[in-house]
Amino acid sequence: LRRPYHQKVVDHFEKPSNVGSLDKNDPNVGTGLVGAPACGDVMKLQIRVDADGNIVESKFKTFGCGSAIASSSVATEWVKGRNVDDATKITNKDIAAHLNLPPVKLHCSMLAEDAINAAIADYKNKKKGAVESADDHRLEAAAVAAA
Ligand code: FES
Repeated sequence: LRRPYHQKVVDHFEKPSNVGSLDKNDPNVGTGLVGAPACGDVMKLQIRVDADGNIVESKFKTFGCGSAIASSSVATEWVKGRNVDDATKITNKDIAAHLNLPPVKLHCSMLAEDAINAAIADYKNKKKGAVESADDHRLEAAAVAAA
């Protein structure tokens, strides 16, 4: 190691928080799967959202470097308890600053920001889909009633 990693990176790498998976078919779960073109590393981050739009659980699996693992660990800790709209405000800069990542490792924290946003987008898409299909059912019911 040319440059010693900051202790926080080592801690999260040794004992990452929230490693695992949630059921991606659960309508209240959003899944973000993103890759870093620069290095080929991949991060999956999932959130479970309650009826009020608050993130109650988050899990990740990262195939990547120590900084990516530490970044995803921090990301899952930070999104928990936040509203989905509020969680999109977490930036890679916050994560990188928290972990003291060197400039060459900034893209690793970017992966975490992308994964959070992808998970939230997936969750919102599912909700939108659910509302639209409920509307379809209502339309169908109305058409049947009118016939
Ligand atoms: Fe690519 Fe860290 S080296 S995510």
